Amino acid sequence: MRQFSFSFSSFYIFFFFFIITPQETSSAVKSVFSIDIIKQTCRTCADKSTIFSHDLCLTSLQSIPVSHATNIQGLALIAMELALENATNTISSIEKLLTSRTFDPFARACLEDCFKLYSHGVVTLIDATGAFLTGQYSTANVWLSAVMEGATTCEEGFPEKEGELSPLTKENYYLFQLCDIALCIIHLLSLPLHS
Ligand SMILES: *[C@@H]1O[C@H](CO)[C@@H](O)[C@H](O)[C@H]1NC(C)=O
Repeated sequence: MRQFSFSFSSFYIFFFFFIITPQETSSAVKSVFSIDIIKQTCRTCADKSTIFSHDLCLTSLQSIPVSHATNIQGLALIAMELALENATNTISSIEKLLTSRTFDPFARACLEDCFKLYSHGVVTLIDATGAFLTGQYSTANVWLSAVMEGATTCEEGFPEKEGELSPLTKENYYLFQLCDIALCIIHLLSLPLHS
């Protein structure tokens, strides 16, 4: 737990250090530019995939002050940071569900599986961010895909028993989509055009 808290906070320091870099451009120019790259990136990614949510991409990325989104690399980092925050909140939600409500043994076991998947997911997201920041795009790619698979596995556990509904559908969807934004940007950055 101590180990986890430490890497979590150092991640944040690392993250903000990277994002808040001095800019020469005026803030007005920068804002217009930022809104534009968010729109453009979400559109491009939505056009490439049928499961990618254009709306969630827009609202998520625009929820961060636009001045932070200086370039497409910055957008990938914002997506990963949002995913990390989301996954961390979901871990608390699962803990609350497990203590405050009574679930049948099957649902309880599923929730415990989800707890493990999300705990691994948080660590994996931090690793993915580190890999991304050091330019290891294919490694970041593999780790982000693993986190998405974790969300899917969590969701698919519940309906394995007839009539059982997942209490984490929204959470799993958010985590999947936020990781998919980062994944799409990594693919865009890996195109020959960008290298
Ligand atoms: C998770 O992410 C989604 C999409 O950005 C957002 O709407 C939601 O408020 C976030 N939830 C939490 C608990 O962080």
